[in-house]
Amino acid sequence: MLTASIYKALLIGDPVKQSLSPIIHQYFLQQNNLIGSYEAWQVTKPNLTSVIKCLVEQKYVGFNVTIPHKEEVFLLCHKLSKTAKLIGAVNTVSILADGSLYGHNSDAFGFYENLLQQQPNLILNNQSALIIGAGGASRAILYSLIKAKMSTIFITNRNQNKLDKLLTDFTSLAKQYQVKIMAVAWQEYIKIVPQITLLVNATSLGMLNQNELNFDFNQLSCQTTVYDIVYKPLYTKLLLEAQKKGCPIITGLGMLVYQAMVGFELWFKQKPSYNIELQQLLLSKL
Ligand code: ATR
Repeated sequence: MLTASIYKALLIGDPVKQSLSPIIHQYFLQQNNLIGSYEAWQVTKPNLTSVIKCLVEQKYVGFNVTIPHKEEVFLLCHKLSKTAKLIGAVNTVSILADGSLYGHNSDAFGFYENLLQQQPNLILNNQSALIIGAGGASRAILYSLIKAKMSTIFITNRNQNKLDKLLTDFTSLAKQYQVKIMAVAWQEYIKIVPQITLLVNATSLGMLNQNELNFDFNQLSCQTTVYDIVYKPLYTKLLLEAQKKGCPIITGLGMLVYQAMVGFELWFKQKPSYNIELQQLLLSKL
């Protein structure tokens, strides 16, 4: 059995103050009778490399990565899982015995598992979706939706260069699954909205203390499922307005928990479970 001092993991990102990840992992540690810690450190871009070096020296078992470091950490890892390689972003890192970094991406699993749990009857195959955002989370979501064999996936982003790079990076995977992926200009995406089965907000817009997503709800059909990866607040303005229109909605909390389960199992070799107690604990913190 590993000693208590080895059970050290954490989240790095900026900002991390509002993160529920420490609560989730501390719950999982208790659930599995493990003694350890999971902290959240605010790490700015210039400090990223030195902080990671310090984690290796201090024998952390691994760490999660959130906004804005997922793509940078991808480049810093020595080994990558197949999923992380295809996505081009890392949100879960294992620090191996020799101090090298093994990068994985559990956002894709978290996104899809949450979708299955909240809308089990939603058919994606041959349907179209719009993803808003082109950051690390969007990459994982695009990967999931390509694998779900949707017919067309539209993606939009404020920063057009980032959007173009995302499209280029996923061209080959999309071709392999016979899925059409199309970039839509930030000012134009609302035109696509009436025709889609699934709308995903993969930006931080709508998050507590952030700007709202500027959205014309008149264009939204009540047939469209609206998924917001933001979980604080649980019901973003986007979700509340969509719900008013009668749209099925998917909140972001489950994605956070399901992605966390993957990291926990990777580091601690035990399978945690997402139960009502944990759900209520998390809801009480929102
Ligand atoms: P994550 O890893 O969680 O996806 P990220 O890689 O930093 O985080 O991506 C954040 C996403 O939110 C990006 O699509 C970003 O758009 P830009 O690429 O244009 O920066 C989007 N985003 C954040 N703040 C935004 C804002 N005020 N308006 C529009 N998009 C925003």
